[in-house]
Amino acid sequence: MRNFDEGRITRAVLERLSGARSPRARQVSEALVRHLHAFIREVRPTQAEWGEGIAFLTGVGAMCSATRQEFILLSDTLGVSMLVDAINHAGQGGTTDTTVLGPFYVEGPPELPLGADIAGPCAGEPMRVEGTVSDTGGRPLPGAWVDVWHSDAQGYYDVQRGDAGAPGLALRARFRTDARGRFHFRSIVPSFYPVPHDGPVGRMLEAQGRHPYRPAHVHFMIGAPGFTTLVTHLFLADDPYLDSDVVFGVKDSLIRPLERGTGGAVLRYDFVLPAGAQEEPAPAGSPGRQSERLP
Ligand code: BEZ
Ligand code: FE
Repeated sequence: MRNFDEGRITRAVLERLSGARSPRARQVSEALVRHLHAFIREVRPTQAEWGEGIAFLTGVGAMCSATRQEFILLSDTLGVSMLVDAINHAGQGGTTDTTVLGPFYVEGPPELPLGADIAGPCAGEPMRVEGTVSDTGGRPLPGAWVDVWHSDAQGYYDVQRGDAGAPGLALRARFRTDARGRFHFRSIVPSFYPVPHDGPVGRMLEAQGRHPYRPAHVHFMIGAPGFTTLVTHLFLADDPYLDSDVVFGVKDSLIRPLERGTGGAVLRYDFVLPAGAQEEPAPAGSPGRQSERLP
């Protein structure tokens, strides 16, 4: 078969996929070809525009390194990460809603006793975070691991600020729930912040007329034997970016008011884990590796 014109090229490529190694490989490849060709037919790029598109994707790849994952940032900012989340976490009745992991998780964070202060050298408004971890039947889960991490009062994570070679970990830790499934720790109130926007994704956001900000939040990764690990955040109520999170990660159920009393601000939440296979966390204090989703 030769001489493919605009009307016949798509069918020809689809036919070429009939020998795919598995039904799933064929399904995914066919959908990719159909949607990609439909995109090109809709956009009708000039040869120069297509070259720009290739240069953009090349730039995204070139920006990736051991400490930066620009492709995941592209997926996040185009809403694809949250679409995958929505497909995979729909209808887990009664369990805490999930949201994106983000690039700033560090495996094996320092394990600290309940009540510890994780602010380290970071100054800011004191905040106590407390809550419980239970199953869908309301039974508390003692010994559940609760990994937490968040930005400082200027909107930076410790891993963004560290001196070359020896970044001090702060505003992150692992806690274990007590016999009644409770946890609590002290920290400072985090700020909203921009996702890394000094690369191709930042230029894309600018071209699209979008800001790069995420509303202030505290990340949680929570697990227990016999339960599916929960990846989520708590968002601070009244943040100016709740309705325009650059990665579309906000869910109403995860927005919490900061209760301000005489002892400082308090952030409270009772987490509910879905039953399922346990995934063991990296041991605390293991050679800290940032998530695959680095900035
Ligand atoms: C974060 O919340 O840490 C995050 C999530 C997605 C992209 C960048 C940062
Ligand atoms: Fe974050």
